[in-house]
Amino acid sequence: MLEYPNLSTRGNSLASNPARIDFELFMEASQNVYCPDTNPTGAFPLNVAENHLSAAVIKEQLTAVIRQNDIPEWVLSYTHLLGHPEVRAEIANFMEQQLCHCPISPDSIGLSAGASAIIEVSSFVLANPGDVVVIPAPSYPMYTNDLGLKSGMDRYDLQTHHDLEEIGGRAPVTTALLDKAWADLQAQSKCFKVLLITSPDNPTGCRYSEAQLRELSEWCIKHQVHMVVNETYGLSLIDSDDDAASYCSFAKIMHEAKSDYLHLWYAFSKDFAMSGLRVGVVHSLNEAFMTGYANANVPHMVSNITQWAIGELLKNTDFIGSYVVNNKTRLNQSYQLMVQTLEALDLPYIPSKGSFFIWADFSKYLKDHTDKGEEQLWIDIYRNSGVLLTPGTGFMHQKKGLFRIVFTAVSYAHLEVAMERMKNYLRER
Ligand SMILES: Cc1ncc(COP(=O)(O)O)c(C=O)c1O
Repeated sequence: MLEYPNLSTRGNSLASNPARIDFELFMEASQNVYCPDTNPTGAFPLNVAENHLSAAVIKEQLTAVIRQNDIPEWVLSYTHLLGHPEVRAEIANFMEQQLCHCPISPDSIGLSAGASAIIEVSSFVLANPGDVVVIPAPSYPMYTNDLGLKSGMDRYDLQTHHDLEEIGGRAPVTTALLDKAWADLQAQSKCFKVLLITSPDNPTGCRYSEAQLRELSEWCIKHQVHMVVNETYGLSLIDSDDDAASYCSFAKIMHEAKSDYLHLWYAFSKDFAMSGLRVGVVHSLNEAFMTGYANANVPHMVSNITQWAIGELLKNTDFIGSYVVNNKTRLNQSYQLMVQTLEALDLPYIPSKGSFFIWADFSKYLKDHTDKGEEQLWIDIYRNSGVLLTPGTGFMHQKKGLFRIVFTAVSYAHLEVAMERMKNYLRER
């Protein structure tokens, strides 16, 4: 008997399970945010991936765009299902100049309401229910819903390591691991349909090098597996001495290979601190995929006023160029503070090469190496220091006691206070 008989089976599951387990505490912490003057004992929600380091700059620029320009007539009407042609041309130009460094045709991109919608619509067009998406663990927890809820894809969490030291800062997926996943899935009569790579990665901050992307893409084309690279954090790079990991957009490999099996996702939510505007981009040279995508995209389109605002913002290429550089400087400064904190506590972490995250191993503080023990430690840190991390559950990594820290969620000055509080609590523990 269903708990809510007036809802579908799906509706029952949705009504009973939160989309993310940290949402309730996030709402609580967000109502009680630290402020040195008005709320000095307040909390630091460092669990949701938002860029509060650069939001003020973007807000000022967007305000200027809206004040200084007349809204064009097309904004009030329906537009192309993949996005207004002029806006797609601006976005393609921006991608060529800033992210991809190779030709991008406006016809090869489509817009949806944020990366989440891009993921959902792409999987709907590429896969049948029950087809499998292989994702290296740990990975962004919301992939489960974005790929599973409507498209019905199953996820296979590719375990690439147990202890963080095993991979250091290297992006860990190899063709040998893909062979293993292929054999495992064949033995279960399941279809390995999509390989999903996030680069820079959420939560590890790993970047896939050009050589790695090329090797993985060749494997995928040979096995007729779709390879998608999610480059939502593609301009949020952390300085690194490791040349092998110098940033290469997957678009470059797509441009060379011209294969129907290769695709890229991007969004303005993270690099441009605009998660609320809901603008995501899919890029693919597979024409049938793009046509199918357009037809499935109707309920997920970006509103025209938002498309127009983004298009106008991108026209100012001088602003965009300097924004990308300054945003990176701010990210690196906050990242260094995190590194100092983790080293002071002697906690293992993956050296981040991009994204807003540092993925760290707090397992030495666990009383009990189980899901319950991990949840207890996560809550203890929050209740005693006000610092809310993202719990490891949902990232599908097998070791317990690993947490993600979003170092862009508050200003540098507030992050300093948060880290002092967290250090003091953990040292006492
Ligand atoms: C890897 C990754 N993909 C997609 C998303 C969703 O982004 P959006 O807010 O644009 O839907 C996130 C958000 O945290 C993310 O980290």
